[in-house]
Amino acid sequence: MGLREVRLEDVIPLRHAVLRPGRPVETCYFDGDDAATTRHFAWVEDGRIRSIATVMRQARELSGERVPFQLRGMATAPDAAGRGIGSAFLQALNAELGASWWCNARAVAVRFYERNGLVVVGEPFDIPEIGTHYVMLYEKTAGS
Ligand SMILES: CC(C)(COP(=O)(O)OP(=O)(O)OC[C@H]1O[C@@H](n2cnc3c(N)ncnc32)[C@H](O)[C@@H]1OP(=O)(O)O)[C@@H](O)C(=O)NCCC(=O)NCCS
Repeated sequence: MGLREVRLEDVIPLRHAVLRPGRPVETCYFDGDDAATTRHFAWVEDGRIRSIATVMRQARELSGERVPFQLRGMATAPDAAGRGIGSAFLQALNAELGASWWCNARAVAVRFYERNGLVVVGEPFDIPEIGTHYVMLYEKTAGS
């Protein structure tokens, strides 16, 4: 049980089921998914992928800091959500990356990310067909 680095194909089923339900599977592919610097991760329990996230090298200046990575496509299987998997997954990811990162968080996930040490930066914005999002920042500190 724990964090695994996986292939793009391995994250597509949960992306589809959780993040793009009812939409064509082509909508589950992101620009940069197959870049050499992109890494796909899963949280695995009993051989089953229970949560997924993708980390892209996508630097952005936030709060006066150059933040090197973007987290994308985080999703937990609906029958496993709310049990702490997402939080354990993020903690393990932070240990693996050892760096600051940012993400575009859905409004429903803001509290989840805040509990995991991220902060909202700036104003909300709309992503068509998906809804209101917030830029959120995980700032790697000496002790984290
Ligand atoms: C957000 C998400 C990745 C969290 O994963 P998780 O394994 O449920 O995480 P945890 O059990 O550690 O934490 C659950 C928290 O997520 C929140 N949450 C958001 N969407 C949820 C959902 N569909 N089901 C259960 N909890 C959800 C809960 O409110 C809870 O926060 P709270 O304790 O502050 O109330 C997961 O719930 C999910 O995939 N949601 C739908 C897709 C999504 O919004 N992804 C983020 C895109 S930016």
